[in-house]
Amino acid sequence: PRYWLIVPAAGSGQRMRADWPKQYLRLDQRFVLDITLSRLLDNAAFAGCMVAIGPNDQRWPQTDASRDRRISTCIGGAERAESVLAALDALSDRTREDDWVLVHDAARPCLHPDDLARLLSELQDHPVGGLLATPVADTLKRTGPGNHDVEATVDRRDLWRALTPQMFRFLALKQALESAIDSDYPVTDEASAIEFAGQIPCIVEGRPDNIKITVPADLALAGFILKRT
Ligand code: CTP
Ligand code: MG
Repeated sequence: PRYWLIVPAAGSGQRMRADWPKQYLRLDQRFVLDITLSRLLDNAAFAGCMVAIGPNDQRWPQTDASRDRRISTCIGGAERAESVLAALDALSDRTREDDWVLVHDAARPCLHPDDLARLLSELQDHPVGGLLATPVADTLKRTGPGNHDVEATVDRRDLWRALTPQMFRFLALKQALESAIDSDYPVTDEASAIEFAGQIPCIVEGRPDNIKITVPADLALAGFILKRT
């Protein structure tokens, strides 16, 4: 099977509260989206890459990535899952059912190349696929519904923070996303849709510094992480 890359970059970055979407903020002069894509495509595994951009995106033509012939674009949807599904549809005439698809957030420029390589190698023979995740570091409390009274401290030994890339088979992922969206199931990542479809994703432990730029402080943190790696 071949490997395809999907990068959802159609979000508007509400929590970042910047003047434009966070994938077009700059780190060291470069767009976050360009950093993310170049780090991914430094790995030679991919047969092609589909980036989902917003319907009114004016900035994509200004990226370095827009001049990279390995990369195509499609128009994303209102939710992340719909953007990923649009990208799968846009790739469908080039893919086979059991090809691998890696989905990685545009807003995660700090993915370490070793983590990407390990995800690819550890899951290459897996029937379902899986995702990078990192152990939960904080002590977790559960409260009663709608109040602030601590009911329990949750055992965190079996809890993980889901990261991206997430890697699944083309057809399985497309069908899982379609049926989860149809059922209004809250699809927060690809793995949740695969689980909804009754399959069991495998976790590959990744570095905790593969952060998603979400709030303003994350941009400075990402700049710091990128200088070290
Ligand atoms: N994304 C997308 N299409 C959407 C929503 C999100 O392609 N309709 C992408 C974002 O561009 C981002 C990734 O999914 O790369 C992760 O989403 P998130 O961090 O939530 O980004 P935004 O939705 O842009 O931010 P916010 O939720 O704060 O508005
Ligand atoms: Mg969002």
